[in-house]
Amino acid sequence: MVARAQNFVCQSCGAASPRWAGRCDACGAWNTLVEEGAATPARAARKGRLFVIEPLKGQTLEAPRLASGVGEFDRVTGGGLVRGSVLLLGGDPGIGKSTLLIEVAAAYAQHGQRAVYISGEEAVAQVRLRAERLGLAEAAVALAAETAVEDIVATLSHGKPPQLLVIDSIQTMWTQTVESAPGTVTQVRGAAGELIRFAKRTGTAVILVGHVTKDGQIAGPRVVEHMVDAVLSFEGEGSQQFRILRAIKNRFGPTDEIGVFEMTGAGLREVANPSELFLSERELGSPGTAVFAGIEGTRPLLVEIQALVAPTSLGTPRRAVVGWDPSRLSMVLAVLEAHCGVRLSGHDVYLNVAGGLRIAEPAADVAAAAALVSSLAHASLPADAVYFGEVSLSGAVRPVAQTAARLKEAQKLGFARAIVPEAARTEAPQGFALSTIGALSELVADIARDGKPPPRRLRGQDAEEDT
Ligand code: TYD
Ligand code: MG
Repeated sequence: MVARAQNFVCQSCGAASPRWAGRCDACGAWNTLVEEGAATPARAARKGRLFVIEPLKGQTLEAPRLASGVGEFDRVTGGGLVRGSVLLLGGDPGIGKSTLLIEVAAAYAQHGQRAVYISGEEAVAQVRLRAERLGLAEAAVALAAETAVEDIVATLSHGKPPQLLVIDSIQTMWTQTVESAPGTVTQVRGAAGELIRFAKRTGTAVILVGHVTKDGQIAGPRVVEHMVDAVLSFEGEGSQQFRILRAIKNRFGPTDEIGVFEMTGAGLREVANPSELFLSERELGSPGTAVFAGIEGTRPLLVEIQALVAPTSLGTPRRAVVGWDPSRLSMVLAVLEAHCGVRLSGHDVYLNVAGGLRIAEPAADVAAAAALVSSLAHASLPADAVYFGEVSLSGAVRPVAQTAARLKEAQKLGFARAIVPEAARTEAPQGFALSTIGALSELVADIARDGKPPPRRLRGQDAEEDT
């Protein structure tokens, strides 16, 4: 008998290696190789089975969807779960994944669908306690605390399969077909594969919960991302109540929609008008803040962009950004220096998107520039204005998509004017003032005109800082 080859698997990317190493050759992550059983147990070759090959042209009904009735969840999935599809919900521990899914399961159950919630992390009593806290104690959701995938599949294959199966979490599941310990990449992949086969065979929509830690210590559900139909991520700042559900991959729907929830004492509350929420704690009249009229998916969303520009005490000034792309910030700063005469090389720059939102749109360039210049010049921007527009490397302000929707949302929320690219001139709603700008330098000149000199620092403070 041949000694079984050892198998070390990177817990970050899933690459296998015959030897242990400090650093994974495939992805470069450090200290992620863990010994696991052979990935594929040797089996005697079997004769191939014949299967039917169909022409591409044929009758397939459109993938039937089951809407949950939780509006924000349905929006992100593209109208509800598709029968037989598998969705991975990722997110930091404690962000509210279990809470969201028990609410979704209860919503399906309310519509007469059979929903099964299997927890590998908590006892049935704990899940029940949470449901009570959410006011869902009476919901007809079937519960079990189970971790053996074969047992789950066997139990659910008995009789009519459910419409929804929630597995919380995939890291706790294990399958007999793989020898590794639960939580390792090989187990996670094996268990997910087993559940995906179950979904495709029975038409049950399956939601897998996956924990993601920042340092990648827990076997990453990254490997599972390629296997499932949709990947959603549940995000939020620990200190804040907002939770954002975002589609990262979706074979049956859009990937740019977000769902917004608020974590309350009695569970997650849907936020139908997120702009109101993101602007609710705005400090009016302080320099360095600008309201950006953005678009998330099909929905306009107003957010506040905050900037702080302060003289640096370091050789290389700091550039820190939360919620926006750091390379776009560098680009906007370079354009301000090169085309608008704004010197920032002696200043630290901090940029923050309020409310813990992440913005990916280039349309935020103008709003970011406005906030930066406003902070530098100590000139507060008009409280009733919104900003949007893309900045090109030449310093020109370029048009962006969905101008009308952005302006309408701004008007709805009580704003009276917008600083926008020239092409937007024709799209102003009635009673709404537009200032169009062709180049970023025009915006800078406008803001600088209202600027005040920076407040003098007190001598006492200077002395304190020197010590
Ligand atoms: P949970 O859904 O258990 O998170 P996850 O499954 O992602 O690990 O939620 C955990 C947090 O949510 C916990 O800190 C308590 C908070 N929470 C509320 O604020 N209100 C509630 O009604 C519930 C059920 C939880
Ligand atoms: Mg949980």
